Amino acid sequence: MRHISHGGARVAALHDEKTGSWQYVVSDPDTGAAAIIDPVWDFDEKAAATSTRNADVLLDYVREAGLKVEWILDTHPHADHFSAAPYLHEKLGAPTAIGEKVQGVQALWKDIYRLPESFPTDGRQWDRLFTEGDTFSVGGLEGRVMFSPGHTLASITYVIGGCAFVHDTLMMPYAGTSRADFPGGDAQALYRSIQDILALSEDTGVFVGHDYGPDDREPACFSTVAEQRRDNIHVGGERSEAEFVALRSARDATLPLPNLMLYALQVNIRGGILPCEEADGRVFFRIPANYFQASAD
Ligand SMILES: [Fe+2]
Repeated sequence: MRHISHGGARVAALHDEKTGSWQYVVSDPDTGAAAIIDPVWDFDEKAAATSTRNADVLLDYVREAGLKVEWILDTHPHADHFSAAPYLHEKLGAPTAIGEKVQGVQALWKDIYRLPESFPTDGRQWDRLFTEGDTFSVGGLEGRVMFSPGHTLASITYVIGGCAFVHDTLMMPYAGTSRADFPGGDAQALYRSIQDILALSEDTGVFVGHDYGPDDREPACFSTVAEQRRDNIHVGGERSEAEFVALRSARDATLPLPNLMLYALQVNIRGGILPCEEADGRVFFRIPANYFQASAD
């Protein structure tokens, strides 16, 4: 667990080594109110088995620090891990939330998985669906929602106090940006979403959703808007939209799909719940064959 105080907020960051994911507990030091962002529900794809290793570390931290969790937030339906939001909701009672465009992602993947007509795509799996500009509070800190489509069409950024939780919209400056080629992804939209983030005040903290610790570095999670504007290898130095789209698209064409994508989306469009149980309580995943292309390697 890494601890960073910035912009009036205290942020505890937990890295999941397997997926390179950062999970956050952001809290108001004055009141102890907190929000959990993008918690990971562990999944071993060889055994097709879940566990709550990461989420339990978050729970232990929340308890030891005496925090009162008021929100359990996801930035988007993740392709590389399952959301632990329902598990934490059960343990902590706090409402879950995501951006309202998740409805579009649900509809897209309902079709890809050929889910039954009865599968709801109205986002009812979450307690709250945020729209652009919505505000909420974490104790004395104000939270604000910015739509950040591009990596997925439902991606949002949470600005809480002086901290922006951007997940896959930006990566660390040395890593650039995340891919925009998943169903519903859009490199041009990603560029524009990034410009909105870079237009925040330059001392805003930028907390990313992934880092893989390149070149034997320790994984990192924090930079500032000023650092991103200057140093980001994909969008820094006022790179043009056309240049970015060309670079992003060329790179995306070389990337294999994430290991867990076909498992993760069917769980995450349900808000982090496994697919419907059979009558005897057993659970099965559903994988579309030959819908996506084999990777080159
Ligand atoms: Fe993502």
